[in-house]
Amino acid sequence: VLNTEFSVLYSRNPISSIHTRLKSNSSIIEKMNRKKIPFSLDNLLREINDVAGVRIVCSYIDDIYALADLFTKQDDVTLLEKKDYIVNPKPNGYRSLHLIISIPVFFANEKKDVKVEVQIRTIAMDFWASLEHKMYYKFEGNAPESIRRELKECADLVAFLDQKMLAINEEIK
Ligand code: GTP
Ligand code: MG
Repeated sequence: VLNTEFSVLYSRNPISSIHTRLKSNSSIIEKMNRKKIPFSLDNLLREINDVAGVRIVCSYIDDIYALADLFTKQDDVTLLEKKDYIVNPKPNGYRSLHLIISIPVFFANEKKDVKVEVQIRTIAMDFWASLEHKMYYKFEGNAPESIRRELKECADLVAFLDQKMLAINEEIK
């Protein structure tokens, strides 16, 4: 709704793209096994936050916080957890704002609060994260130090670029 409203009513839409995905049965089972959580529907709903995932990609860093604000202010959205990997990047250089929210979903006979993992990041952070993800999977977590170092350098460049683009945009405005 925010995406449509911004493109229709405002001169600029802060949302560049939105991707959604549902975790597959096999990844749910793999994750619960990895976390040693006995399989049951209750455990799944209580312990796994990312069965439903939404990624929102924006142009500028300040769009991320503006969108997170607008979104969590909606009265059917409950913010359960916020992880700001932009202020506190992961050691590998990963940056994004993560929100775990819950939202009521109406089924045939009941209403259930369902958790959703929302990742909000810039185009540059998204570009970086997709290559880092590819590296991680390719080497199954044991990537050569040289590639990890180069990616960390790129993460710093991404952070610099995001700051610079934001500043230039402000100046233009
Ligand atoms: P799980 O990883 O879901 O068990 O939970 P967590 O508490 O570790 O969540 P976190 O917020 O760290 O990560 C959740 C999701 O963010 C992951 O499934 C990825 O989609 C993304 N993510 C986190 N860290 C990285 C990273 O270093 N690189 C990339 N490419 N994606 C990451
Ligand atoms: Mg993780």
